[in-house]
Amino acid sequence: MALDDEDGIIDGGVFTALSWKAMPTSLIIVDDFLNNAHELRNAALRLTYPEQEGAFPGRNSLERIEIGGLAQQVSHIVGEPLQLMSPPQSHAKCRITLAADQGRAKVHIDRAHWSGILYLSRPEDCQGGTEFYRHLPTGTDHMPFTEQGIAELGYSSFDDLREQILEKDALDRSKWELTMVVPMRFNRLVLTQPQYWHTSGPSFGDTRETGRLIYMMRYFLPGAAPDAQS
Ligand SMILES: [Fe+2]
Repeated sequence: MALDDEDGIIDGGVFTALSWKAMPTSLIIVDDFLNNAHELRNAALRLTYPEQEGAFPGRNSLERIEIGGLAQQVSHIVGEPLQLMSPPQSHAKCRITLAADQGRAKVHIDRAHWSGILYLSRPEDCQGGTEFYRHLPTGTDHMPFTEQGIAELGYSSFDDLREQILEKDALDRSKWELTMVVPMRFNRLVLTQPQYWHTSGPSFGDTRETGRLIYMMRYFLPGAAPDAQS
């Protein structure tokens, strides 16, 4: 190992980057993602949002909005050849959540390799964002990426872990410590590896125009988490 005189950069083969599986990237924030985000927002406001009874407050749109070249663009940003999921889950749908919506967002993971959240609320309405948590009983900030990792935490299977952490503990905020909030900002894309424990921030607004409005993405990569877990 030698120190370069010119710029002080340490030169040597000592610091070798690990392979992807040992060095996962968990979060990428891209601002001013679309050049016509206002048009997407207007289209999102015209969609149908049926009543939903789910674990999460808010409503998903019935329809999906296709954004040309999106998978390629996101693949380029994360550096992985992502694929659309089958079934697509909430990919390309929008979600509106208002202050009056019942229920508190539960800490969870998404069954995708990357999730994208494009914030479409107006700048003057934005509050909170996307929250990340540490699970206190296990000291983890994410779901293990492998079956071996699940066993090392003392769980017999993914289903066992899901029952204990994602169903039981997810309802009890005393089991979780907030570690980070990505602030909401109009036209900000948050790409997250959704095996990290997370949830949406506070709901707000009393109409579609003033509420928490997002466009959702879900991508898959064969052989990568969550594919490797179950
Ligand atoms: Fe999520």
